Amino acid sequence: MSDTTPNNSVTLTDNRTGKSFDMPILDGTSGPSVIDIRKLYSESGCFTYDPGFTSTGSCDSSITYIDGDKGILRHRGYSIEDLATKSDYMDTCYLLLNGELPNKDQSKEFKQTITYHTMLHEQMMNFYRGFRRDSHPMAIMVGVVGALSAFYHDSTDIRDPNQRLIASHRLIAKMPTIAAYAYKYAIGQPFVYPKNDLSFAENFLHMTFSVPCEDYKASPALVRAMDRIFILHADHEQNASTSTVRLAGSSGANPFACIAAGIASLWGPAHGGANEAVLSMLQQIGHKDNIPKYIERAKDKNDPFRLMGFGHRVYKNYDPRAAVMRESCHEVLEELGINDPLLELAMELERVALSDPYFAEKKLFPNVDFYSGIILRAMNFPTSMFTVLFALARTVGWVAQWKEMIEDPHHKIGRPRQLFLGHEEREFIPVEKR
Ligand code: CMC
Repeated sequence: MSDTTPNNSVTLTDNRTGKSFDMPILDGTSGPSVIDIRKLYSESGCFTYDPGFTSTGSCDSSITYIDGDKGILRHRGYSIEDLATKSDYMDTCYLLLNGELPNKDQSKEFKQTITYHTMLHEQMMNFYRGFRRDSHPMAIMVGVVGALSAFYHDSTDIRDPNQRLIASHRLIAKMPTIAAYAYKYAIGQPFVYPKNDLSFAENFLHMTFSVPCEDYKASPALVRAMDRIFILHADHEQNASTSTVRLAGSSGANPFACIAAGIASLWGPAHGGANEAVLSMLQQIGHKDNIPKYIERAKDKNDPFRLMGFGHRVYKNYDPRAAVMRESCHEVLEELGINDPLLELAMELERVALSDPYFAEKKLFPNVDFYSGIILRAMNFPTSMFTVLFALARTVGWVAQWKEMIEDPHHKIGRPRQLFLGHEEREFIPVEKR
């Protein structure tokens, strides 16, 4: 973090005592500055209060930068548009983990390393069989990823840089296998082993959609779209699941358990679960004629209905990922010759919402999940797998952020404080007198 420059501070005054406290302002390389309140409690006896962390920076980071007002997303300085159209997911993973894009040799070596780790320990198959057949694949993901720590003891010592690296590679490499097996288990088909002569995205499609009794070749258009979806979801700075991974990891917990915690957080409909919710919403709306009714419901404070896939905590402009996803969505539907009425409905909904003053005033734009559901449906993924794909792609972001935190010599256990509103001390009343 950059140093404080003299006179670059804010002064807080406690009006009860008249005492003032100078809090330094720290400047990053881009984005808003922060008020450094680390000494606030020791000097003033007060905590800050910011439920939902709307004004709170929890760490410093050099991985991902978002300017929500301008609709900018950059990884290590490179725009998401460039990465999504000129790079591939493996090179994006390398960039997130190492800070630089790989040269040809580094790229080849990284792909080989990831490929080397794609298989799961054979005893993990028994673990899958313990789940109910109708389990949600995200529930299986949380369980199986957490269980990795029971199978790979040689990569759980977070103080050893080599073990940290192996854990990172294992997580990125095994996640497609874990995700595909969650799907296969649910539909009662045999697990398909990874095929290491395929690319990361193609291998995932192969494990998901092939069966041992038939040949399978994914269309290059689908492979490209899959890879692009992975890039678009690779990292997104300090969102709920990434902060969960950091908080879990701050206690020194093992990496597999931390990523399982991130998956649990991602599952919620306000976060990664939104892509699944978008499709349910479009199906619920059913027809263009019903759009005005649902727009009115979304605007009604007394109605819990929200337009899923709209709005974002950080983006107050078009989500740049949604713009790329929208383009990909059209390409895939065209190449597959799919004429999906839900896409037409989605586009009409987008048009109506964007021209409505409520959405304009509140700066509610489509987010990445608005289009990812439609593209994934066209690719034949069942709705229950949508968030699983998000988790698969985001694993590299979680791992990169976790590593950055562990490797920061100043990192501390995360331990927020609270404004207590409960009872003061009360006299204990024996049960017979209550
Ligand atoms: N439909 C209708 N009204 C909305 C919506 C929406 N989708 N999103 C926000 N609003 C309104 C909200 O009612 C509030 O109005 P008011 O100021 O009058 O109370 C105002 O806009 C601000 O909303 P907020 O809930 O305070 O904003 P937030 O930053 O806490 O929430 C959000 C962000 C993403 C949870 C929210 O926009 C939302 O629930 N969107 C739908 C779910 C969704 O698409 N989530 C995916 C996020 S992108 C993928 C990811 O990164 O995980």
